[in-house]
Amino acid sequence: MTALTLRHIHKKYEKSTIIENLSLDIASGEFIVLVGPSGCGKSTLLKIIAGLESPDGGTLHMGEQDVTQLAAGKRNLSMVFQSYALYPHMTVRENLAFGLKNIKTPADEIDRRIQEAARMLKLDEMLDRLPQNLSGGQRQRVAIGRSIVQQPELFLFDEPLSNLDAALRVEMRQEIQQLHNTLNNTMVYVTHDQVEAMTLADRIVVLYKGKIEQVGTPLELYNTPANLFVAEFIGTPKINVFPAVWHDGALRITDRVAIPLSQPPQGVKEGDKLFAALRPEHVQYEGDGGFTFTARTKLCELQGDSTLVWLDLDGLPLCLKSFRQLSFAQGTALSVSIAERDLHLFDSLGKRMG
Ligand SMILES: Nc1ncnc2c1ncn2[C@@H]1O[C@H](COP(=O)(O)OP(=O)(O)O)[C@@H](O)[C@H]1O
Ligand SMILES: [Mg+2]
Repeated sequence: MTALTLRHIHKKYEKSTIIENLSLDIASGEFIVLVGPSGCGKSTLLKIIAGLESPDGGTLHMGEQDVTQLAAGKRNLSMVFQSYALYPHMTVRENLAFGLKNIKTPADEIDRRIQEAARMLKLDEMLDRLPQNLSGGQRQRVAIGRSIVQQPELFLFDEPLSNLDAALRVEMRQEIQQLHNTLNNTMVYVTHDQVEAMTLADRIVVLYKGKIEQVGTPLELYNTPANLFVAEFIGTPKINVFPAVWHDGALRITDRVAIPLSQPPQGVKEGDKLFAALRPEHVQYEGDGGFTFTARTKLCELQGDSTLVWLDLDGLPLCLKSFRQLSFAQGTALSVSIAERDLHLFDSLGKRMG
């Protein structure tokens, strides 16, 4: 196990800055998930940690050791990619053994580690098969097994489940979680799937354009997003966001709808522009949130356990999530309510207020 310390990491490709002055402390044994939209620099950052790319500035420590200039092969880590890249002409056992043979691990030790990894990943029955005779999920397990047998201090994963279908992704997600519970290794896991991030992470790092937007536990990010970007990135369906004006002790959303607050948001002046945001499950139908207004239904999406009601609020879209089975004709005027405590307020630059 090992802690990781990134300090002022900078990376450019030609003229564009990909990672900008990024600092991050990862504790020993922590499961860190990097999320962010495609192209935000997740893989680049992981490759810098792995030693497959070198930063243009900054330092990286594993434990006490400065590894910034250390070759990838000497970093005592292993990486699992989205494409499993198994050797097609080798059996599962040979694929698992390959890296260990290369570093002249004794045969009985190789056997022992393969048995252990195979048991953990339920590959016992498949050790003598070729990759072509495995399902996608089984192949990805072999790829993970190849990492496990190395007994690295640090595991890196780059979107390892992206090529799997939805059901298998859920299953593998749970296996990776169990793996972390068993091994207790430090893991850095990249995904663009926020459900994976929420369920796996001890802490999530939200990246956007090469910078950290927020670091926190999944619930910190969900309950107190530091800015609009994080608020909109975490949560499905997306949080409702309304441009608002602070007027006369209320958040004025439309000509008709102004939400009075018990006290003004910190530092706000009459006429200031801000953003009010509200998660769909906090828009209540037949609830008593405190502040009530009407909106017209556009569409109901029944999901069995819940319903998404897409509403129109004087031209602004509003999504309501109810854990009841609801159905309304299009254009129904619905009375909905919200509670002040559920509102997230952001200033005109998108920074969380208060
Ligand atoms: N080897 C490279 N040369 C030039 N640009 C690159 C290279 N690798 C990645 N990039 C660019 O860097 C940005 C971040 O890429 P990447 O780290 O792969 O993003 P992510 O994994 O978050 O989707 C992208 O704009 C990508 O086009
Ligand atoms: Mg990537």
